[in-house]
Amino acid sequence: MTFTPRVFSGIQPSGDLHLGNYLGAIRRFVPLQDTHDCIYCVVDMHAITVWQDPDDLRRATREVATAYIAAGIDPKKAIVFNQSQVMQHAELAWVFNCVARIGWMNRMTQFKDKAGKNSENVSLGLLAYPSLMAADILVYKATHVPVGDDQKQHLELTRDIAAKFNNDYAKSIADRGLGEDFFPITEPLIAGPATRIMSLRDGTKKMSKSDPSDQSRISLLDDADAIARKIKKATTDPAPLPETVEGLLGRPEADNLVGIYAALSDTSKAQVIAEFGGKGWGIFKPALAERAVAQLGPMGDEMRRLIEDTTTIDAILHDGAERARAIAEATMVDVRSIVGFIR
Ligand code: TRP
Repeated sequence: MTFTPRVFSGIQPSGDLHLGNYLGAIRRFVPLQDTHDCIYCVVDMHAITVWQDPDDLRRATREVATAYIAAGIDPKKAIVFNQSQVMQHAELAWVFNCVARIGWMNRMTQFKDKAGKNSENVSLGLLAYPSLMAADILVYKATHVPVGDDQKQHLELTRDIAAKFNNDYAKSIADRGLGEDFFPITEPLIAGPATRIMSLRDGTKKMSKSDPSDQSRISLLDDADAIARKIKKATTDPAPLPETVEGLLGRPEADNLVGIYAALSDTSKAQVIAEFGGKGWGIFKPALAERAVAQLGPMGDEMRRLIEDTTTIDAILHDGAERARAIAEATMVDVRSIVGFIR
């Protein structure tokens, strides 16, 4: 069975979007809209697996939507919407909760990290999180998902759920003439060497929205001054940049800043070292700041403008949800029948 190529990805609205989200995810979504049917979702139902203040959730949902658009995703081409407007995600997630096994969920490293020693006292939704993620993807029969390294295990689980559903319901699927495989086995789309963007204060920690220090990350809503200031204040060791890329080994802060420069310029670390090797931070940091401001400044301006225009943003999400719902409902008509629900 061949499936129409379709891309799906999602970002959680759970706080400030930062440079890591942009370089690792959003920026990669943009060119795909010219080659694939793309669906980009703001996964607000995933966000509430941990507590979210309702007003903050609304604002963060609009923030992710504005980031998609300011980054260059055209909401007329790609579908941009928030998950909770398309109830078919929740409906399919329930079916998947009954297909997937608890042991599969318990093995997820993200769950183990987030639950910690507290695993009896986190929400049931946090455990079932990957089942909802599988539903996000499969309700559209998406064939490709651009994801970072940290989501690979969840995508594996999505494939396991699709395979088990296809297998458990094989006879019902065949009886209804719905082909051999009802759901595709979705492939990850891993574009180039993954750049892990690290904290500006500690090159061994990932840049994160939960870091208490605002100085540790570049927010996509930062203005030009803030971006430049954070880069100039970024922690580094005192030595100048190495003469070779190998010289970055064991120098996490230097490696991170060179990696950010390379990612922003769409080139390799080796290329950056060829240009800046042996130079001091007094030369490199202003060059990096200039690059970052040139790329992120206009996007931040557009985001700050759009986020105040809630009427426009909400209309885009509403329109996207309608288009998404039409696809999702077609899948669910078949799923209900396959499973044996009477309508
Ligand atoms: N779990 C993803 C993350 O935290 C977000 C997500 C939810 C997602 N549903 C998805 C990503 C479907 C890709 C496809 O980054």
